[in-house]
Amino acid sequence: MEITLWGVRGSIASPAPDTAFYGGNTACIELRSDAGTLVFFDAGTGLRDAGNSLPDSGECHLFITHAHADHIIGLWFFKPLHLPDWTVHLHLPNWLGYLPDYFFAGGVFPVSFHNLKGNIIQHSIRAHEEVRIGADEMRVTALPTCHPDDCLAYRVDVDAARFFYSGDHEIKTNDDAARAAAREMLTGADIAVVDATYERGDYKEGWGHSTWEDWVDAAQGAGVRNLVLTHHEVGKSDQELDCVAQKLRTHENPDGTGIYLARESARFTPDGPIPDVCLESDWMLRFLDELSRYKDENVTLDRILAKARTVTNADAGTIFLVDDGELVFAYTHNDSLFSVSEAYKYAYTAQRLPISEDSIAGYVAATGMPLNLDDVRQLSPDAPYRFNDKFDKNTGYRTRSMLAVPFLDIEGRVCGVLQLINRLARKTRQSVPFTSDMVYTARLLAREAGSVIAHNALYRRNVYNILKMARVHDPSETGPHAERVGAVAAEIYQRWAEKNTRPQEEIRYEKSRIRLAAMLHDIGKVGISDLILKKRGRLSEEEYRIMRSHTELGASILAEETDGISVLAYDIALHHHQKWNGMGYAGSDDTRRLSGEAIPLAARITSIADVFDALISPRSYKNAWTFSDALTFLRKEADQHFDPELVACMEEIHEMLPLIYQRFPDRTT
Ligand code: C2E
Ligand code: SIN
Ligand code: SIN
Ligand code: FE
Ligand code: FE
Repeated sequence: MEITLWGVRGSIASPAPDTAFYGGNTACIELRSDAGTLVFFDAGTGLRDAGNSLPDSGECHLFITHAHADHIIGLWFFKPLHLPDWTVHLHLPNWLGYLPDYFFAGGVFPVSFHNLKGNIIQHSIRAHEEVRIGADEMRVTALPTCHPDDCLAYRVDVDAARFFYSGDHEIKTNDDAARAAAREMLTGADIAVVDATYERGDYKEGWGHSTWEDWVDAAQGAGVRNLVLTHHEVGKSDQELDCVAQKLRTHENPDGTGIYLARESARFTPDGPIPDVCLESDWMLRFLDELSRYKDENVTLDRILAKARTVTNADAGTIFLVDDGELVFAYTHNDSLFSVSEAYKYAYTAQRLPISEDSIAGYVAATGMPLNLDDVRQLSPDAPYRFNDKFDKNTGYRTRSMLAVPFLDIEGRVCGVLQLINRLARKTRQSVPFTSDMVYTARLLAREAGSVIAHNALYRRNVYNILKMARVHDPSETGPHAERVGAVAAEIYQRWAEKNTRPQEEIRYEKSRIRLAAMLHDIGKVGISDLILKKRGRLSEEEYRIMRSHTELGASILAEETDGISVLAYDIALHHHQKWNGMGYAGSDDTRRLSGEAIPLAARITSIADVFDALISPRSYKNAWTFSDALTFLRKEADQHFDPELVACMEEIHEMLPLIYQRFPDRTT
């Protein structure tokens, strides 16, 4: 069974900017069984949208709890009532038989009930009665609720699961009998949607509504899997409801019941909400807070892609970034082809696309306009862009629906493109089109995340500029050397952390710090004369003594900063020439020598990445080595110069090394 919430507001519809997230429509819930039996509960204003989502023919059931206007007013504009190919079974509480004739015509509505075009069959239901409907013999049982006017609740058993809905229902605080009755009704519910208009702090006794605290209490011991609190008080803004959601997260809940605030258009199965984010209006703020912890581009892109895919249920996605007037393929996920934990390998793909209207991503970058394509293989012949199926051809993947939105930097310029691929229908796992709601969400997410990306790029440019100012070696070589050492160190770290089963969250954070901190390892060379740095041939003993001081010098520069990265960069700058056997250095003399695990982990990692890069690269004093000679050297020095466990990690990531070197080549001048 699947539940969709079409209206979650109580008393009167309240569409407004500050209710847009949770929604302003009044009570209406859809239940669809696995066999396709379609049932609605209550006919608040949400019923209009529900009807508009339906095809032009079909059959459905509509159960009404009571005749308060917020539970019936949507009847007027329920599409199936007005279409000849629809059959609607209207189930009314037994005391409301008069309602249709009264509510249609009689000066209230232009068309009388018997003139409606739909095939409408009116039924009467009384408390404790059970109705069986549909091919799957769904059982709907009416239950009396506590309410000043008569009102029914409904319990549905279908697909080996139980749904419960109370329209209006007052559990008076401290009324133990009412609480026991509510617990009885909730018993065994996989999904219960209940009237929680109030909190204890604003409870109005006698208005026929409950507080969320009383429902949470009543649900304890009743075996409820998902408790969905609805009928939000009419004046409550999204921000006020977010505060309630915050309280729910920390409220005592020994049964582990999933407790949710109802949000218009949210859907549930007995296993919980689908998708499982987006249930509070501040989800994006909380996501951006998390994102701003990471300064590293790859980690940031990975998080953005993961979040964008979760909120759209996309099977795959790619981020392109603008670089030098082109689009660079920067990060990709594809659940059908590889796991998210492997995705980082593809971050070093050096593929580029021109910013021009003939590719999909190029079009979005060139125009700043989103594209929502139902099927990339059936594009309009008038569209300037074409789908590039090279990736599909190479991998056997089948791209169908695609949503592409621009990343915008702080000044509103396009700085990249977020491409989401194949939104999967939950049950069939087939590719279905992205909804307009998703286009909006993805645009907003990309716009906000774009400034985080731009901010990271700025941070990175600062690192470059520091390195450039240092005029380490040849200035044109500095950036790529630092990038490679950073990338290799980050990958060694990840391998090490995974082997040591560190939590994913910690790995992500540390990896992002190590990459940037390792880039700064040689910053102390700023204080070393070019005469020594660029000397062709071996250094004299005195020159080498001076050279060694670049470690201390770098550390003293970084000691003045205290952000998360500088603290780590300090350790790396000071200790990256230490040796595992204690024969290295951290300064021009031997007084600060360390050995083994006394050397900070990040420095042990960076020394492997640094020496590897020094060997691979031509220097004024030596020729370039081959990858395999360099790896052989590392292996030989394991236990001597290097931590053997980390050399093993380096060997295990060897497939990625050529990719990293292609991604960050030395620019020959
Ligand atoms: P670098 O060029 O970035 O090298 C970093 C480290 O890589 C070196 O630390 C060393 O451990 C390793 N390495 C580099 N080239 C070779 C090599 O040909 N063979 C072997 N076995 N290892 C190598 P080290 O020795 O402490 O040097 C620190 C920095 O001092 C070097 O940074 C470089 O800037 C400079 N340097 C070292 N030796 C010479 C030299 O003979 N001539 C010149 N001009 N500079 C040197
Ligand atoms: C495009 O956006 O059309 C090129 C990238 C891709 O094929 O995924
Ligand atoms: C979604 O709509 O976000 C998920 C796709 C589905 O369940 O059909
Ligand atoms: Fe160094
Ligand atoms: Fe170096």
